[in-house]
Amino acid sequence: MTDRTLYIVTCGAPLASRVGDGVREARSRGWNPYVIPTDAAQPWLESQDLGDAPTITGNRRPGESKRTPKADAVVVVPLTFNSLNAWANGNATTYPLTTLSAALGSRTPTAAVPFAKHDLAGHPAWLASLAVLRYAGVRIVDPHDGATASLEPIASGAGDSVAADFQWDWVLRQL
Ligand SMILES: Cc1cc2nc3c(=O)[nH]c(=O)nc-3n(C[C@H](O)[C@H](O)[C@H](O)COP(=O)(O)O)c2cc1C
Repeated sequence: MTDRTLYIVTCGAPLASRVGDGVREARSRGWNPYVIPTDAAQPWLESQDLGDAPTITGNRRPGESKRTPKADAVVVVPLTFNSLNAWANGNATTYPLTTLSAALGSRTPTAAVPFAKHDLAGHPAWLASLAVLRYAGVRIVDPHDGATASLEPIASGAGDSVAADFQWDWVLRQL
């Protein structure tokens, strides 16, 4: 057992199909992972084995005790166009977004894997939000090859194959 807590936030895009692999890889490196999915990510989680990693959904009720230890690190895999922009703008309307905003505000080490096709990534908010997150210290990881200095959008129809080839080492080694 370890006391290093890792939040794995996951959003609604094909790379969410690899969260189970991320849980296993994180555990093998001594992390204690908690999965925090957006509502849109849930369909990708249904058929996956997440082991004994707790899945935390929705806000806790007033008076309910905290459901997770404080995070030592946070990864966001995948980070959708929607959540990227909401996070960069400080939007905290859901539990995953509140978690991400708090990670940024508390300077918790955070790495994110943005995942969007060219049509969404062509929107000017994409580059602006990436700049905000990089400025705040978030490590941005390309889902194709783990590059951190550049980021390529996903080619149309390639989401599942990019997800299949993704290596969790690319993001976990950033922490
Ligand atoms: C099959 C499918 C694939 C999707 N792929 C992507 C994607 O690669 N990138 C993206 O930003 N949104 C993608 N979306 C759209 C997001 O799921 C949608 O914008 C959602 O509102 C994101 O919510 P979230 O940011 O709270 O997870 C996809 C949706 C579906 C149903």
